[in-house]
Amino acid sequence: MPYAHIRGWGKYVPPNVLTNDDLARMVDTTDEWIRARTGIAERRIAGPGETAVTMGINAAREALHMADADPADVELVIAATATPDRIFPATACMIQDAIGAQGGAFDLSAGCSGFIYALSVASKMIEAGQIKRALVVGTEALSHIVDWKDRATCVLFGDGAGAFYLEADEEPGGFLAFELGSDGSGGHLLTGPVVGNSYEPVVAPDLSKGYISMQGRAVYRFATRVMGRAAERALRRAGLSVEDIDLFVPHQANLRIIESAARHLKLPMEKVYVNIHRYGNTSAASIPVACCEAVEEGRLKPNDTVVMVGFGAGLTWAAAVVQWPKEPGRRARSKPQSARSWLRGQRARLLSMRHRVGHQVDELLEAGLPIPPRSKSKTPSG
Ligand code: UT7
Repeated sequence: MPYAHIRGWGKYVPPNVLTNDDLARMVDTTDEWIRARTGIAERRIAGPGETAVTMGINAAREALHMADADPADVELVIAATATPDRIFPATACMIQDAIGAQGGAFDLSAGCSGFIYALSVASKMIEAGQIKRALVVGTEALSHIVDWKDRATCVLFGDGAGAFYLEADEEPGGFLAFELGSDGSGGHLLTGPVVGNSYEPVVAPDLSKGYISMQGRAVYRFATRVMGRAAERALRRAGLSVEDIDLFVPHQANLRIIESAARHLKLPMEKVYVNIHRYGNTSAASIPVACCEAVEEGRLKPNDTVVMVGFGAGLTWAAAVVQWPKEPGRRARSKPQSARSWLRGQRARLLSMRHRVGHQVDELLEAGLPIPPRSKSKTPSG
């Protein structure tokens, strides 16, 4: 049976920084309150033209570049996102086209647990032998659906994207166990924009309900209840215990929730990765971005046993026990590798253009437009 291994990882965060002091000029809040209650100091906000698609593309390209992988070989792209550019086409399809991948692509909606849900789907398809290479992206433009007048939520969220590139390998390792859970009865505690309505069909999105709305205290209680438990269950499934954890990478929603999960697991904070102060809550992007930075800071090392845990809208929760790759990607930014990446990018652009032109030609043919008759080739008269 093949195993699914992480071969590359990448992240993208917008350059635009929004500090707590900036927010204090927009709503009735203070830097002190935000830091004390959440641990957040600043967050990144998508600039003009930056969306879940564009950020996801950047993160995906970095993950593929690290692995020196050819996007044309990628057989599956999953984008975990709560903030797709559109409900359809899927964010994953836009990413697939931009990077020049060839296989299936779809979005997955599981709130802040989405990235781990997506990892479980992609890794199981690899282990089942159905595909050999997959790209999993967590990407969010939460600033597009935040109510910037609601101090209870606008201080919490930020934008960004992270991606893992997975490959099949006969060597045991990779994803050791998952635990996924949901409780839709708590769905109303954390909601996003209304597109349809189960009771009353709507013809156009109701913009008055177009924002994130959250009962913070209730979500807080839910999060502290499920995080530690989900991690324990996934560890048990992997035949491991808390002592085996080298690094715990929790969803970055609130420092107090993270500390509470660590206390539940009796895990010292040295084994817990935290970067919430820089980015706030980036939902499905938070875990892959955290993993990328944990590697950059030397906190996540080759062959480490990592436990990732997410929770969020749905309500959902998810935990993964992962053996980080022994070889830290083919990271060296060698010149041939950069040239290969550049050429692959050009090929993706050309492929996309070819397909687009193909669609347009099909449309013209379908429309039955008069097409100039082919000039008859002159045959030499006998
Ligand atoms: O990805 C998953 C999604 N979400 C989460 O994980 C969020 C989970 N919940 C939380 O992180 C916390 O509940 C919050 C950070 C959202 C709120 O912290 P809290 O300690 O639960 O505060 P609270 O909602 O109980 O509010 C305490 C007070 C209230 O004032 P009163 O009623 O005590 O006078 C709020 O109105 O703080 C007030 N408040 C604020 N004050 C200054 C709420 N937001 C703010 C703010 N600045 N931004």
